[in-house]
Amino acid sequence: MNIVILAAGMGKRMHSALPKVLHPLAGKPLLSHVIDTARTLSPTRLVVVVGHGGEAVREAVGAPDVQFALQAQQLGTGHALAQALPLLDANVPTLVLYGDVPLTRASTLKRLVETAGPNGYGILTVTLDDPTGYGRIVRDAAGQVERIVEQKDANEAQRKIAEINTGIVVTPTAPLAGWLAALKNDNAQGEYYLTDVVEAAIAAGHPAVTAQPDDEWETLGVNSKQQLAELERVHQRTVAEALLVAGVTLADPARIDVRGSLTCGRDVFIDVNCVFEGDVTLADNVSVGPNCVIRSASIGAGTRVDAYTHIENAAVGANAVLGPYARLRPGAKLADDVHVGNFVEVKNANIGVGSKANHLSYVGDADVGAGVNIGAGTITCNYDGANKHRTIIEDNVFVGSDTQLVAPVRVGRGVTIAAGTTVWKDVPEATLVLNEKTQIAKTGYVRPVKKKN
Ligand code: UD1
Ligand code: CA
Repeated sequence: MNIVILAAGMGKRMHSALPKVLHPLAGKPLLSHVIDTARTLSPTRLVVVVGHGGEAVREAVGAPDVQFALQAQQLGTGHALAQALPLLDANVPTLVLYGDVPLTRASTLKRLVETAGPNGYGILTVTLDDPTGYGRIVRDAAGQVERIVEQKDANEAQRKIAEINTGIVVTPTAPLAGWLAALKNDNAQGEYYLTDVVEAAIAAGHPAVTAQPDDEWETLGVNSKQQLAELERVHQRTVAEALLVAGVTLADPARIDVRGSLTCGRDVFIDVNCVFEGDVTLADNVSVGPNCVIRSASIGAGTRVDAYTHIENAAVGANAVLGPYARLRPGAKLADDVHVGNFVEVKNANIGVGSKANHLSYVGDADVGAGVNIGAGTITCNYDGANKHRTIIEDNVFVGSDTQLVAPVRVGRGVTIAAGTTVWKDVPEATLVLNEKTQIAKTGYVRPVKKKN
């Protein structure tokens, strides 16, 4: 099967410099949703018809299996499809999709293709309470499709028809060139309508048949930011329902956003207002507190992620405790039973089993062993103004509060670092390290007082 995605329209009503089909839904361009769905049908040719912002579209969704056809002027849907013709295999049917209709299920498209068979002309239709604006499906007395009439060309009786053309069709390909070449633009919009091909197909002995989606929203397109926001909610509700069905507990299915893939084990709990991006895996018994952002990460079984924690490109072991207000940046690898508490930032660092950094610390470009306690206000000084260096803290080190570790530096196992120490040389194992400082208490000191005017 060939698949052609029409994406040349400009999307005036988005009021945006970004081409309409590149506006993101669930963190991914509208057009990418359509391409990904198309791919699940294993098309032999996949062609995107671009026009407005064509270069940007090619750049955003370009891939070895995607070909592009240019429609320089938007002269109508029939004209758009004609631009793709040279790239199609004439021996198999062609499925036509819209780049701004992102949520059609693959199962719906399969049903349409199967209903049409190799020779039929298949139209995906829905019956709407308010069909205003859409092309209407005109049937004869026997219920056979005769033609499609656009809203602007429809008479009073035709406008009462509630069954509409979603625009998604499947057609035999060999006769298509002739049908498209014969289209006229003598209609209300002065466009070459793809919808007029139906009559030619029927006349040529290709029966026009219809199929319907399971849900109306599968056929909804995006023309404005309002419609984009509505479809985003539809999509998020569908994702949330799938999580619930799989046994995940959601504090509120209306307050979770998944912009990628979220894989959960058993007995996972997710509190309100969490955002998941990229591929995220939560193992059994993970609990995520409110207002967390988790991007491209895996979280081990039994780990608790408390409120307002941000995680990106990180891996966390089992039974860890993170947050509230923890930040794991790219390359953070936490073993089992690690605690990373409030206002602690970890970047490009390994933290061993059972180690704890509970308050106000920066652990970057570091290898921290097992059983290490990192006191409040500890900072790995990883950057010398030009290069980054590593800090190595071996097992069972006790890092006193307000310690600076000036990298590159190694602290041997079992070392105790006194509070307020600047560690700028390697420390041999099992020693106490401190900087000599004096504490002076002056008697008779008088504090300044505020002057009165
Ligand atoms: C079209 C259908 C109408 C259907 C409706 C469903 C025709 C003539 N009408 O109408 O029956 O009910 O969709 O939403 O087909 N496009 C191009 N090049 C063009 C024109 C359009 O690539 O020259 C693309 C658009 O980017 C869009 C899609 O085709 O993705 C549909 O175009 P649009 O103008 O929205 O179609 P409608 O007039 O709404
Ligand atoms: Ca139009």
